[in-house]
Amino acid sequence: MKFVLNDELIEDNTLPSDFSALRYLREKRGLTGTKEGCGSGDCGACTLLVGALEEGELKYSTFNSCITPVQSLDGKHVVSVEYLSDADKLHPAQQAMVEHHGSQCGFCTPGIILSLASLYENSQASDKTIDRESVCDAISGNLCRCTGYRPIIDAGLSMGKESAWSSLADNTESVKAKLASLQGDAKAANNYFQPQTLAEFLTIKADHKDATLVAGGTDLMLENTQRFHDFGVLIDVSQINELTKIEDNGTQLTIGASVTYSELEQFSKTRYPHLYHLLERIASRQIRNRGTIGGNVANASPIADMPPILLAFDADIQIISLDGSQRTVSIHDFYQGYKQTVLTEGEGEVIASFTMDLATLADFHRFYKVSKRMEDDISSVMLATRFAVTEGKISDLRLAFGGMAATPIRAKKAEAALLNSDVNDEQALSNALAILKDELTPLSDMRASARYRSDMACNLVRKAWLELNGHSIPTFSGHPVSDASLGYELTSNTSQSAQQGGASHA
Ligand SMILES: Cc1cc2nc3c(=O)[nH]c(=O)nc-3n(C[C@H](O)[C@H](O)[C@H](O)COP(=O)(O)OP(=O)(O)OC[C@H]3O[C@@H](n4cnc5c(N)ncnc54)[C@H](O)[C@@H]3O)c2cc1C
Ligand code: FES
Ligand code: FES
Repeated sequence: MKFVLNDELIEDNTLPSDFSALRYLREKRGLTGTKEGCGSGDCGACTLLVGALEEGELKYSTFNSCITPVQSLDGKHVVSVEYLSDADKLHPAQQAMVEHHGSQCGFCTPGIILSLASLYENSQASDKTIDRESVCDAISGNLCRCTGYRPIIDAGLSMGKESAWSSLADNTESVKAKLASLQGDAKAANNYFQPQTLAEFLTIKADHKDATLVAGGTDLMLENTQRFHDFGVLIDVSQINELTKIEDNGTQLTIGASVTYSELEQFSKTRYPHLYHLLERIASRQIRNRGTIGGNVANASPIADMPPILLAFDADIQIISLDGSQRTVSIHDFYQGYKQTVLTEGEGEVIASFTMDLATLADFHRFYKVSKRMEDDISSVMLATRFAVTEGKISDLRLAFGGMAATPIRAKKAEAALLNSDVNDEQALSNALAILKDELTPLSDMRASARYRSDMACNLVRKAWLELNGHSIPTFSGHPVSDASLGYELTSNTSQSAQQGGASHA
């Protein structure tokens, strides 16, 4: 493993595969400015910047170092808070936090400063103005319990108004030169492999049949930090060229398994705004910078947010075996039970990509995520819908849910009740909702009671149907707001367990 840590060239081939970047900084380099709060990607105290060369330019993004294997940073520029200031000079993010009193206990502060520094550097590079939305996005994964966000947001908004000294900008050329010296270096890996091509991956996997695959590590690494599971050999699929592309060939959209949420956000912002807005509700900026679509689907959590969307669009999944052969499985057949998929470990299978017909993407579609917080929270209920309407009738539809069963699931009986009905037939909708109540039998857990989930599922289908019919439905925290004239009843999420909160990402 070789990377540039602040201004130092690092080479270390002695670490366990799952040794986190946070531990590396604190325990091996004595860089204790980076803090550990939750150890599970939830609080942002451990936020770092990672810079990569893209077409000759250095691009920085944030990540949670507590759940990032340090060896995944091979070839990158890693920036900790210690790098930002120089003698008496502060980075604009630091200066702004001082001027706006954005720090009290200071435990969350280094992470917040790095999130703001990332925003600052990217806005300088792209000439984009920093606004409230971009500040909130940048700090969406940074929990501050004592200062309150108002002064932090004010600090973010004040950055970039005047030209100022920045350690990152000041050292760009020397960092680029150091990174360039790492290019093409043979990697002396023994327990963490980062293949760049599918062919390389297959060779490595053949030699290490028991190795575990990792992409962003935002699910997998929690097994290490929360359950103390030691992974032996890890094969990192996040850099495999063939898996990192998004392609539109005029009839189909293909999304590579290693595409991150942040990359899909950029792609979908103007093309698929409903998808974009749903992606904004997934986790935090730090997690979205590393978490991948393939990891989300392969992890097979019943509360994952991408599977319902793929179900709504009848996506196909391309899977590659150890011998290089490819098979295609419909998303409808992919999940076999709780946390079980058709992927066969023994065959060394890897998800390569997801394909969807552009014709289905052109249908009316809506995705609704209901969670306790807008930012960085897991769905209590997630609905992805798609309706095709032909001559005033619903000619095709999908009602796909997360959080309502042991797997992501379609409500096929409720779908059947709406199929071929007039698009505005309220009786057909009522029948479908009555069926939906019986069809899905969700659990009560710390996020929501079964009753709440069930009522919310019906409300969300009603919301989609009303929007299909041209109504605009207000929401609050992702919940449809009560409106008797439109037939909403609001159910409070009152089960005792539902009030306990918690942050498992099962
Ligand atoms: C704080 C926090 C908030 C979160 N919020 C959300 C949320 O709002 N919504 C949501 O859906 N999820 C959320 N997650 C879960 C997680 O971020 C996502 O599931 C993410 O997409 C996982 O992708 P990854 O690349 O990090 O997967 P990894 O953790 O690297 O891998 C997950 C699993 O998939 C396997 N895998 C990875 N890539 C492949 C492949 N190409 N082929 C076969 N197997 C593969 C790995 O072996 C592993 O078993 C959250 C997680 C955290 C820590
Ligand atoms: S320590 Fe909380 S996100 Fe890493
Ligand atoms: S300043 Fe105290 S938690 Fe952030």
